[in-house]
Amino acid sequence: MVAVPREVVPLAAASLLRELSRALAEGSGGRGAADDRAALITALRDATGARHVFLLPDGRTGLYALLAPLGRAHPGAEVVLPDYNFFAVPEMVRRAGLSPVFVDVTAPHGEPTVEAVERALTPRTRALLLGHYFGRPNDLRAWSAFARDHSLALYEDCAHAFGASVDGRHVGRWGLGGSFSLSLTKGLTGVMGGVVVTDDDETAASLAALAPTLGEVPRGELVRSLLSALGGTVLFGDRTYPSLVRPPHARLVGRGVDLLDRAMTELPALTHPRAWPTFARLPAPCARLAREHLTHVTQDVALQRALTRRILAAGPWPRVGLATWEDDRYATGLNLVARVDDPWGFRRHLLANGYDARSDYLTSSTGDAERFPVSVRLPRQGVFLPIRALRDERSADGLIDALRAW
Ligand SMILES: Cc1ncc(COP(=O)(O)O)c(C=O)c1O
Repeated sequence: MVAVPREVVPLAAASLLRELSRALAEGSGGRGAADDRAALITALRDATGARHVFLLPDGRTGLYALLAPLGRAHPGAEVVLPDYNFFAVPEMVRRAGLSPVFVDVTAPHGEPTVEAVERALTPRTRALLLGHYFGRPNDLRAWSAFARDHSLALYEDCAHAFGASVDGRHVGRWGLGGSFSLSLTKGLTGVMGGVVVTDDDETAASLAALAPTLGEVPRGELVRSLLSALGGTVLFGDRTYPSLVRPPHARLVGRGVDLLDRAMTELPALTHPRAWPTFARLPAPCARLAREHLTHVTQDVALQRALTRRILAAGPWPRVGLATWEDDRYATGLNLVARVDDPWGFRRHLLANGYDARSDYLTSSTGDAERFPVSVRLPRQGVFLPIRALRDERSADGLIDALRAW
């Protein structure tokens, strides 16, 4: 039986070790830091086609930086965004001095509809903030026309969507700007990091004004992140992120494992609270790692796409709500999310077949099941299929067999 973990680290253990030792010696800056950051900016400009690229230590600070000028110009203005979201996103809207206005979404993608957004508009609405969840772009042609027609600024949360595009234009470039996350589980990773892209010169000027105010990420925090990435690769094999449960421990799967997962991710944050937004430069070790990943991310995404297409073509299966992909949008296969009625049973079933999977970690921002019924339901049904951990057609076919058998 194949044993496919829920995640892989697409960086070589040797590179992580090298950057860990540099982080210990030099912290987040050090020799050549400015050159290494500049080299990453150039590479990202080439990869996305964006006119302007800015680096930060996380994606959420990128969203804050994009929204802050709007908050200064129009304090309290309303920003429409999906209720189904990552918790930090509405928080950044608030910290930018703006008011989040939530809309319900459609299953299985968790995206708003034009009708829902139209109903949410008021004279105080100034912006729309879309999220390209799990690497699948929203219909950006329709949304950019909608934003133009309603005089709204369009912002994109591209945290999951490095490599995704519509009509050949990379996500993040359809409105005033987009923010990518370079954290460990994302499409492009530097272990930690955020990237803001914009084609808008005014937005770029406000981002550039931030630069002189940025400090460095504390060495301890950087070292902890690098260690956790390295721990995964060393303990569980090169390029493999710790999968807490593997056969024969399948019986552990369920709520207990998710609690453990959460404790592992949140404990460091609890013991060393990090203030968000994080006004710091992207640590130089992370810039070097992200640049290294950029050299093969296109092939990684192509493989994920091909395997995802293979899985989708083998379906549909009535009991597994798998999101389809449109042909005119270039999605990444970062995380293919299945929506099932019994996610714990489903995960146990996958694990018994050698595939570890994670639960959806997006949530309803409000928990208001009356106003946002789909948004409240989706996360409870969501299981990420471990697409990024599949290596070849054989491992994809085993997953197809497991889906068929559910
Ligand atoms: C949808 C979404 N948006 C934004 C973010 C924020 O990214 P970061 O953790 O780099 O701040 C995440 C992180 O997981 C996310 O999933």
